[in-house]
Amino acid sequence: MSAPSSKAELAPKAELAQKADFAKTADLPRHVAIIMDGNGRWARARHMPRAAGHVAGVSAVRGIVRAATDIGLQNLTLYAFSSENWKRPPTEVNHLMGLFRSYFRSDVDELIARNVRLRIIGNRSRAETDILEMIEDCERRTAANAGLNLTFAFDYGSQEEIAAAARALAEAARDGTLDPASITPQSFSAKLSTADLPDPDLIIRTSGERRLSNFLLWQSAYAELLFVDTLWPDFSPKQFLDALESYAQRERRFGAVSPEAVA
Ligand code: FPP
Repeated sequence: MSAPSSKAELAPKAELAQKADFAKTADLPRHVAIIMDGNGRWARARHMPRAAGHVAGVSAVRGIVRAATDIGLQNLTLYAFSSENWKRPPTEVNHLMGLFRSYFRSDVDELIARNVRLRIIGNRSRAETDILEMIEDCERRTAANAGLNLTFAFDYGSQEEIAAAARALAEAARDGTLDPASITPQSFSAKLSTADLPDPDLIIRTSGERRLSNFLLWQSAYAELLFVDTLWPDFSPKQFLDALESYAQRERRFGAVSPEAVA
């Protein structure tokens, strides 16, 4: 199936260049995470099968990854497939897996050219072996790249991730190699699959839904949340840069008070 055109591919170049200049000078978040939602509704609005929405969703992924590398973003994490998504009809799951296969096969050269390091977080035991091999090949081939860290949350669930970290700490305590009193938020974070990433500064969810859906629950403690109505296939590089611009306007206090508020 060829990709139906999405707005993501149609952004006017001059406007984008102007926005990109803004992003280069603004305080870029160190880590942006995105819940890519709305593929099905995008397709339904066009009387197309849900699969067409996912195909258009992959085009939007490409547009956002290119924009992220163009502006020098350090970390981008995309929620591609949740541990709950296995409950979807098998035809949809199979189609999504086919898209992952072709993405990891066909986009790796561009990712290398753009100095992107690709990794996945999530459960590596349930997907088909050939997909896991492709992912691991992609991870190996991009491991030395020092530009954008692109992380796909794939078969990912935050509660499962937190439970696994708790289990690892409990086992170490049981074996006498860890003093439970020494457990801190930092040592707990170090047991999560995101251990070598900074916590997300900004989490964007498309499609108008306002929830985190089991995504980076521990890591989002102080994240700025941005909910946009745009359906994922229409989420354009311009809207991405707008989101970064709106993040730059926010005052982040991390539980403290702003200096102006201190009399
Ligand atoms: C949510 O939309 C989206 C997903 C469950 C999958 C996200 C996948 C992609 C963007 C494409 C695959 C990406 C790569 C890199 C191969 P939904 O289906 O829940 O939409 P709806 O809420 O409108 O039904």
